[in-house]
Amino acid sequence: MARKIAVLVGSLRKDSFTRKVAKALVQLAPPTLELEFVEIGELPLYNQDLETDNPPPTWTEFRQTMAKFDGVLFATPEYNRSVPACLKNAIDVGSRPYGHSIWNGKPAAVVSVSPGNLGGFGANHHLRQSLVFLNMPAMQMPEAYVGGAAKLFDGDNLVNDDTRKFLQTFIDTFAAWAERHAD
Ligand code: FNR
Repeated sequence: MARKIAVLVGSLRKDSFTRKVAKALVQLAPPTLELEFVEIGELPLYNQDLETDNPPPTWTEFRQTMAKFDGVLFATPEYNRSVPACLKNAIDVGSRPYGHSIWNGKPAAVVSVSPGNLGGFGANHHLRQSLVFLNMPAMQMPEAYVGGAAKLFDGDNLVNDDTRKFLQTFIDTFAAWAERHAD
């Protein structure tokens, strides 16, 4: 049985390099993984006051959608050496109400992407810090810091063979990781 994996992208821009890397991973994924993008751009900013009476329908929908997945692939750009607000917001929304986190126990992997040389190292590790608290077993190796992202694509097509090979190893290893940490 294929493991269902949600793909969350921390960039909302149309030509996002991060989304292109995520799409490449979807294409390279083995049949044991079923990857699906879950959009996070319309989630209102988390506000605990809204939780009690009438939570925004998009929060409820997001929580229900995420519940059906076996694991999560986080693809994040780096904003000011951390995770973009839209991704942190989705994490916060999914983590509440207290005791009902949709993240709990789900195996995860993180790929960070940047046109710069450091490949979003800071964002990658800030995100990993949250995953510890959310009790998500996060794949440790291979680490994925995709740098120089502007040079890797021709349109949407990944044209760098070394990166493709690396992403293949990454997603194959994640398939094994998701299997190992399945319920
Ligand atoms: C950036 N960028 C950036 N890049 C980086 O390597 N480290 C950083 O800390 C930052 N900080 C940062 C802050 C903000 C507010 C913006 C808008 C951008 C540049 C960033 O990597 C670049 O815009 C990428 O193209 C964003 O990823 P997507 O949208 O292409 O996926």
